[in-house]
Amino acid sequence: MKPITLHQLKLFEVVARHRSFTRAAEELFITQPTVSMQIKQLTTSVGLPLFEQVGKRLYLTDSGRELLVTCQEIFDRLEQFEMSVADHKGLKQGRLRLAAVTTTKYFVPRMLGPFCKLYPGIDVEFKTTNHEGLLARLSENRDDLYILSQLPENMDISYHPFMENPLVVMAPTDHPLVKEKNISIKQLSGEPFIMREPGSGTRSSVQNLLEEYGVKVKVRLELGSNEAIKQAIAGGLGISVLSRHTLGLEGTTSELAILDVEGFPIRCNWYVIYPTGKQLSVVAHTFFNYLLAEAKQFSTYLKKSGQEL
Ligand code: PGA
Repeated sequence: MKPITLHQLKLFEVVARHRSFTRAAEELFITQPTVSMQIKQLTTSVGLPLFEQVGKRLYLTDSGRELLVTCQEIFDRLEQFEMSVADHKGLKQGRLRLAAVTTTKYFVPRMLGPFCKLYPGIDVEFKTTNHEGLLARLSENRDDLYILSQLPENMDISYHPFMENPLVVMAPTDHPLVKEKNISIKQLSGEPFIMREPGSGTRSSVQNLLEEYGVKVKVRLELGSNEAIKQAIAGGLGISVLSRHTLGLEGTTSELAILDVEGFPIRCNWYVIYPTGKQLSVVAHTFFNYLLAEAKQFSTYLKKSGQEL
């Protein structure tokens, strides 16, 4: 086998990711013939085809797929090495890949702000998706750390709770139940209900609680975003159960109210998790410790502003 260069592997990874020579060339700011030539040389070195063209689409062959996994391992190791060298030099440098469920949008960016100021050498990739999407990323080992509220079953993970995540019943401020106390959960069955999409962790927590109490709700609308649900509640389309954190740091809005319903809040926790045995990079470790410390302050702030339920 002719020696394979790191440069060729980097090009290959970009082509494989985009499944396109043209888009790879665009991302790398080089010409398409340069990309084709390098991939041709790499294919000759390997001695087996790496891609196959079916119609207009480019697919990876079995060897191509194997090479892609190898590339990712090599790049991860190199990145870890660079980060640990930077760490030895006393600099925290590198990339943090953080994936989290949608509700974390309401507080993780706030925590990331001071973190990035503290460590200007660290670049952050923050991806949000629903529970199911997050588990898919976790099983592919795509990120350094994951933040969610419903722990996955049947997955070998290390998990660390860092903050409470109360799920509350929200209604528009002019809803007749707003003034009532100790509302029976059975009363929810008479209300038009807005539910998160299948695959959402919030949805499964709500369904578990309703099942426990034997309550059936009339789902009028299913929406895939907390923000869309808040707007729908404010617009009078129904009531819903969302994390208290979707109300932001202030914890209230002029349009939404929290109902005092039996069984609520559903007391969940936020967890930071990663696959057991995963070698956390220096940067991931730094953020992990920062998150646990910062969450304490954040919770104290919520308590002081009377938002603790
Ligand atoms: P989700 O998040 O409702 O956005 O999926 C909650 C969780 O599962 O952690």
